Amino acid sequence: MTVRGYVFDAYGTLFDVHSVVEAGRAVTRDPAALSATWRQKQLEYTWLRALMGRYEDFGAVTEAALRWTLRRLELKAGEADVRRLMEAYHSLACFPEVRPALERLAGRPRAILSNGSPAMLEAAVRSSGLGRHLEHVLSVDAVKTYKPAPQVYALGPRALSLPASELLFVSSNAWDVAGAKAFGYRVAWCNRQDAPAEELGLSADVIVTSLAELPL
Ligand code: 2OP
Repeated sequence: MTVRGYVFDAYGTLFDVHSVVEAGRAVTRDPAALSATWRQKQLEYTWLRALMGRYEDFGAVTEAALRWTLRRLELKAGEADVRRLMEAYHSLACFPEVRPALERLAGRPRAILSNGSPAMLEAAVRSSGLGRHLEHVLSVDAVKTYKPAPQVYALGPRALSLPASELLFVSSNAWDVAGAKAFGYRVAWCNRQDAPAEELGLSADVIVTSLAELPL
């Protein structure tokens, strides 16, 4: 596999979305359920807004999903709690192997391509210190829709000036892997949760459990 550049999903792949669990403890005895329900609703809202053609950026979608989740779980949470949970989303921890894994791939372009808004991604890259290990940070906001729309994946070849077939797209979200494969990337699925493969008729070219195992 000739890999001339790497394109990484952000949330769930580089950044651990469930690191908001800490901030969730203030509003619930089950912060893991809050985090999982919030994440699923956040993704649902990106797909629904993309299909409806009613784009709002990932910050607005993430906050709307949080508010729905607090009502769904019948949690007493005030505006200060919402602010604190949203702030946690702007400073997510990166998975432990991410920094050395990106360093190992130095020499070829490394990009983030994410649903995240430019402001959210800038904050997450700054707080994690990953900036010096990335050549590009690409947000769907440039095309005002969400993954897995093909126009999102087109941002990678355009920024790196390389064909998708020579880029390795890396995501822990299997549906995102399918979208990138449909577009024409070579794809690596970082199956962090030991999840079953999606039934979407598109399979990863390589499956890893850590970014440290990515092919050079
Ligand atoms: C991302 O685009 C899919 O939320 C994930 O970063």
